[in-house]
Amino acid sequence: MFRTLKNSHNVEDLRLLAKQRLPGPIFHYIDGAADDETTYRRNTAAYADCDLVPNVLAGVQDVDMSVTVMGQKLAMPVFCSPTALQRLFHHDGERAVARAAEKFGTMFGVSALGSVKLAEIGAMISTPKLFQFYFHKDRGLNDAMVERAKAAKFDTLALTVDTITGGNRERDLYTGFTSPPRLTLKSLASFATHPGWALNYFLREKFELAELKDYVDQGSNVAVSIGDYFGSMLDQSMNWDDAAALREKWGGPFCLKGIMSVTDARKAVEIGADAIMVSNHGGRQLDGSRSPFDQIAEIADAVGNDIDIICDGGIRRGTHVIKALAAGAKACSGGRMYLYALAAAGQPGVEKALGNMQREIERDMKLMGVTRIDQLNREMLRYR
Ligand code: LAC
Repeated sequence: MFRTLKNSHNVEDLRLLAKQRLPGPIFHYIDGAADDETTYRRNTAAYADCDLVPNVLAGVQDVDMSVTVMGQKLAMPVFCSPTALQRLFHHDGERAVARAAEKFGTMFGVSALGSVKLAEIGAMISTPKLFQFYFHKDRGLNDAMVERAKAAKFDTLALTVDTITGGNRERDLYTGFTSPPRLTLKSLASFATHPGWALNYFLREKFELAELKDYVDQGSNVAVSIGDYFGSMLDQSMNWDDAAALREKWGGPFCLKGIMSVTDARKAVEIGADAIMVSNHGGRQLDGSRSPFDQIAEIADAVGNDIDIICDGGIRRGTHVIKALAAGAKACSGGRMYLYALAAAGQPGVEKALGNMQREIERDMKLMGVTRIDQLNREMLRYR
């Protein structure tokens, strides 16, 4: 089948478009995960183990799918998780995702390993912005990132807590993927067979990690795998006191990204975090970790009244969002859900992905017999 953006009706269609356009190592960096990728597959499969029980005759003409999370009002209940290196996937990178997220009134998460400066994103869009913080050994860099996120008027900060060491990304080992891409015979061959991508990469603005390049060469001028970056640059002594201190320093809405257990969710409440992203980093870190959706109910039962719970991962359909919210999440987020679309077609691609998702959620809410997100509840779910 000849694939076009117009003809892409779901995440899988956009994934296949991205696969056509990207050199192999870059596609597999996005698409791949840790070890046997069991958790990666389970993140999406988990939704299919739970069925929806709809109500009818509810008068559903006008649907309001907005949610408020970390004090931010979002026009739709799913937002763009922070993901790294976006200008490698499409030359507009974070700029494209920022503009698309703004059009749909949802939050845009920017990674510390992003490829466009926070200041530029801050000046570009007025909708909610989240900065995803990686706790580096270099304290000067950590302080500078907090200051820059504040100066760029980012609304929320998420400390990543599930990358204390690099996940075993075997696809990256096979393909030799690094940031920036290493120019080997093999990688040059994959670039040559994807000239649309390669011309943009080589002829446009130089690729670099915008917030890190003044502090570390790795990732911008020295090619490293993401696993090696995590292993060598991030501070493995990071603990709850560091998280609490970062929250103080930031002073605004604060989130921990990568919480999976009830024990840790309680500790997040204790240090005064406003939200947790229940996440296993898209299956890219600990293979065998439970899926975020499977953990939502027990975490919501324990701390649902004390902290905003975000279900991050595996989302491919509007019904996945509906199930996570019914189980007790305040909002959902996803990375690959919009990244394939970015790689496939830049801003129009991301708009297509978010538009598909928005339409699905509206339709699914109507079919469930609800007009507001807070009407979704556990009685509408049955686990198999
Ligand atoms: C990854 C990081 C960079 O999973 O978020 O590759």
